[in-house]
Amino acid sequence: MQYLQINGGKKLSGEVSISGAKNAALPLIALTLLSKNSVNLKNIPDVADIKTLSKLLENLGSTCEFLGKNELKIDTSKVHSTMANYDIVRKMRASILVLGPLLSRFGHCEVSLPGGCAIGQRPIDLHLSALEKMGANISIKQGYVVATAKNGLKGAKIVFDKITVTGSENIVMAAALAKGQTHLINVAKEPEVVQVCEVLAAAGVKISGIGTDELIIEGTDRELLNVSDFSVISDRIEAGTYLCAGAITNSKISIKNANAQHLSAVLLKLEQMGFGFEISDEKITLLPAKTIKPCEIVTTEYPGFPTDMQAQFMALSLVADGVSVIDERLFENRFMHVSELARMGADIRLNGHIASVYGGKPLNSADVMATDLRASSALVLAALVASGTSKVHRIYHLDRGYENLEEKFKALGADVLRRNDG
Ligand code: EPZ
Repeated sequence: MQYLQINGGKKLSGEVSISGAKNAALPLIALTLLSKNSVNLKNIPDVADIKTLSKLLENLGSTCEFLGKNELKIDTSKVHSTMANYDIVRKMRASILVLGPLLSRFGHCEVSLPGGCAIGQRPIDLHLSALEKMGANISIKQGYVVATAKNGLKGAKIVFDKITVTGSENIVMAAALAKGQTHLINVAKEPEVVQVCEVLAAAGVKISGIGTDELIIEGTDRELLNVSDFSVISDRIEAGTYLCAGAITNSKISIKNANAQHLSAVLLKLEQMGFGFEISDEKITLLPAKTIKPCEIVTTEYPGFPTDMQAQFMALSLVADGVSVIDERLFENRFMHVSELARMGADIRLNGHIASVYGGKPLNSADVMATDLRASSALVLAALVASGTSKVHRIYHLDRGYENLEEKFKALGADVLRRNDG
């Protein structure tokens, strides 16, 4: 297994380029199952999750050809199987995103239940109940979702009881090939959901309300789509993570290819903590704070403060001058980083889904263990300011969602090395 060896205490400087968004690329790869022609996906991040989903599509009979590190050509015209098997789905729960496209195109599919993950139980009941409203017959057999819709899916009026990002994406893609109109209410508005809608609209699907929490989609009744080539939007969570790297070391750094619109809640929180910004079309520059103030965070759906930035801000709060309060509202177990940060001297007190972070305590290097993607990035951030040499183990979690992580940190002047255990 590999680990990152990080020497803390260094100021950062320079600039880093943000990659394409993993959480946009994943649904868009699944979307190619709706296309009659091959599709070139540009600005794809070179991360493990993308490879996992491409492998799944190949197992179904698609051809997935990487034209360079960040461009993927997918042709699903020869898909001969609708069985997404467990050994791939268990590695990456976002594989559930093939459920809607496969069912709407073929009228049947078997997709392994994703199972839980470190941050929570992560049910898919909202995905399944929406498909049933569209006429699907769903049963669970030996850990698989077995879905059939003999004459294809029918448009329906659906209210999501909770806002679900991949649930919204799955049903939007299913509705694109359904017969008749689908009216979705309480849809997620994340930029990644918006891009799925935009790519479908560019392929001729009539969708109104894009970017709002209410969509009306006219299905093509299983007529495959002419999906045009497109470029994946930049990764707002990767961008926020590098801004936190600048903030925690109180350094002036810039990030390129980021979309400031997608980062409003994060930028505002950093401003409230005392940081400044210079924002141009090409880049966002973070300006150091005179004093780093504590923060109050409540995670919520977009455009509110993103749960995927919670762990990073908890690390940042460790160097704030006072007590920060972080309320994690979306996932029931997204504080796995707390015990690892405590090994570095962090004073964080949990009361259910609320964490109080007593900032300003000295942080010491330690061996720590990554548990999930964003928690791992919080450990790297804390190691940047801990005195001495820290080791972040199980960095395969990081490799799932951060492209060229150590190269990017080195470009900012951090002392980071990827090493092999044993
Ligand atoms: C997406 O996960 C992201 N993953 C997650 O990012 C992100 O944390 C999450 O949205 C919230 O923003 C991808 O886009 C691939 P949800 P998703 O369905 O879609 C409950 C990362 O680090 N729920 O919006 O699985 C659920 O338990 C990952 O990149 C149901 O109850 O999240 C949670 O409490 C981690 N029933 C809430 O809704 C359902 O059927 C939000 O989950 C579906 C969800």
